[in-house]
Amino acid sequence: MEAIIETRSLTRRFGAIAAVDHLDLTVARGEIFGLVGPDGAGKTTTLRMLCGLMDPTEGSALVAGHDTAREAQAVKDRIGYMAQRFGLYQDLTVAENMIFYADLFGIEGTEREELTARLLRMTRMDPFRGRQAGRLSGGMKQKLALMCTLLHRPEILFLDEPTNGVDPVSRRDFWAILYELLKDGITIFLTTAYLDEAERCNRVGLMHRGRLIRCAPPDEMKRDTGTATLEGAFIKTIQAAEGAAHA
Ligand SMILES: Nc1ncnc2c1ncn2[C@@H]1O[C@H](COP(=O)(O)OP(=O)(O)OP(=O)(O)O)[C@@H](O)[C@H]1O
Ligand SMILES: [Mg+2]
Repeated sequence: MEAIIETRSLTRRFGAIAAVDHLDLTVARGEIFGLVGPDGAGKTTTLRMLCGLMDPTEGSALVAGHDTAREAQAVKDRIGYMAQRFGLYQDLTVAENMIFYADLFGIEGTEREELTARLLRMTRMDPFRGRQAGRLSGGMKQKLALMCTLLHRPEILFLDEPTNGVDPVSRRDFWAILYELLKDGITIFLTTAYLDEAERCNRVGLMHRGRLIRCAPPDEMKRDTGTATLEGAFIKTIQAAEGAAHA
């Protein structure tokens, strides 16, 4: 197993609170890894540090072979980050948004043409290339944001709640695209509030109050807690962590 993400005691404090508290985590190349946990658990802060957008207050992270704090630019060159609120230009069309991001990433000429065409085909967004982003459905907006992120040709894709508020059919479409990307060898690290999505990950990390309280394949989490559903497994695991903290 080749580790493509590796954190050591990764910590980020904001004043008195530890948003991320001594996180030790390894993700293998080609894996789809899901980070889950209640609001404020520290998921977005973890993602930002892994993307080299925020320095840790303690500990370190290696992403695609580079230290996220000391070699942030090398990390940024190798990843794609789709933020919880990804910036699309609402007045620009689908195609214009893609051109904008391609320019930003220095992708030009025939390379841009080919990549744009391939992404539009893969996401079945070709018929909408002339539509303004502001007039797309929620699911299509997320597909456009994903395409813009992929124009960077990332080795690792970081997605922060990419399907939040998207209808079930569009969420299934979005996941079909993620599986296509996995076949191409891209590693995917995402956060989600949907348990059916967590279920589709190779492994899931459960965060609670800044700490990674469990990290395992979904089936193993259910088996170890003796629960039929992942929701039940999460609740039991969080309760056990709370109990241990109070003891
Ligand atoms: N820039 C900041 N300044 C101060 N506190 C922050 C900052 N960013 C995050 N926090 C705090 O750190 C904790 C973790 O926040 P974070 O956004 O990482 O959680 P999250 O798991 O992504 O939550 P959500 O599910 O709501 O997206 C929260 O208590 C939050 O209020
Ligand atoms: Mg968040």
